[in-house]
Amino acid sequence: MRKIVSMPGDGIGKVVLPESIRVLKAAGFEAEYIHADIGWEFWKTEGNALPQRTIDLLEEHKIGLFGAITSKPKDAAAEELSPELRDKGFVYFSPIVGMRQHFNLDICIRPCKAFKGNPLNFIRKSNSGFEEPEVDAVIFRQNTEGLYGGIEWTNPPKNVRDAFETHPKMKNFKDTPNDELAISTRIVTKKASTRIIRAAFEYAKKYNYKNVTICEKPNVLRETSGMMLKIAREISDEYPDIDLWDTNIDAQMMWLTKNPEDYGVIVAENMFGDIISDGFAGLVGGLGFACSANIGDEVAVFEPTHGSAPKYETFDPPIINPIAMILSACMMLDHIQEKEKAQKIRVAVAKVIEEGKVKTYDMMKLRGRQDVLQNGAASTKEMADEIISKL
Ligand code: NAI
Ligand code: MG
Repeated sequence: MRKIVSMPGDGIGKVVLPESIRVLKAAGFEAEYIHADIGWEFWKTEGNALPQRTIDLLEEHKIGLFGAITSKPKDAAAEELSPELRDKGFVYFSPIVGMRQHFNLDICIRPCKAFKGNPLNFIRKSNSGFEEPEVDAVIFRQNTEGLYGGIEWTNPPKNVRDAFETHPKMKNFKDTPNDELAISTRIVTKKASTRIIRAAFEYAKKYNYKNVTICEKPNVLRETSGMMLKIAREISDEYPDIDLWDTNIDAQMMWLTKNPEDYGVIVAENMFGDIISDGFAGLVGGLGFACSANIGDEVAVFEPTHGSAPKYETFDPPIINPIAMILSACMMLDHIQEKEKAQKIRVAVAKVIEEGKVKTYDMMKLRGRQDVLQNGAASTKEMADEIISKL
């Protein structure tokens, strides 16, 4: 039987992940779920939010389903470390970043597809009143390098500063004292760019998207964005039926509300991908609907875009929307060639949304309080039950 590493993590991750497994089972997907420890609890008790045994399980079984984790700033992290581990050199490290780096999960896929009838869908004014564009964009975010690559300094060491000084533009900063200087780099490689751009074109071909857009800023970021665009132009020659578009990240954010329905697959560097995927997610229902996949050569991890929403952790019954997690589980099914079951679940989700009888609090635009249930909102479990009833 197929084995899936199940990592609920913290907060609402512990709520939505079991619900998604219930839906997977109801759709006829048979698997053994192997629980793996990840998150804040393990930082506090072991000084490591991503224990080696979890890495080993992923190494062995290759496919992970992940809820969400809680991260806190450095000082808070140090304070909450259990007393016997303090002053032993433990430093908090985000387990998601850790997973992405360890397994080189360099391709992040974030589909943003509007479900018909979702009250949270973006509405645009038209000549004849209002219209609801059919948004169906899939963001390919480079997950491991770029501006989030982590290569940065405040008060850079001398050899680093010296190396930077070899660039003519550094003369603008020649009078800035070293301890007043902070540098974050944006490193882009040909290898990773080629991998993600090719993956984007393959995805467009497989799922019949008409265009692939490189969303960067090559007129300013000539080197990094420029390299990505050049690679995209080369690769696009192999896909004559798919148009290659390129947009600038700033203009793209404006076009987000003007003509979002025109875009198919969009590729961007780490930070731009982060921005653009949140932007598109906002058009199709926000965090309750935003699903994602982190794909490496061998290992793949599927997770909702949202975090652990700690405020909701203790709600009984839970009220948060399980759809983002359920759609992430569908992406897992697609990845392991269980496309029919994935489609079955998506159709069930679509039916529930279109009927509009069962809605979680976010879909009713209510403030997230326990009493939303008295005001007609469905609980997390009721939403999952309704989806299951449509399968
Ligand atoms: P968050 O995504 O956890 O929650 C923000 C707000 O979005 C919530 O208060 C809630 O109003 C709404 N929301 C989130 N998920 C929802 C759902 N399924 N249904 C309905 N509404 C939902 O982000 P926040 O508050 O910035 O971070 C909380 C913690 O999560 C932090 O410790 C942060 O570091 C961590 N985090 C973890 C991520 C991950 O595990 N991938 C990603 C983002 C944040
Ligand atoms: Mg984000």
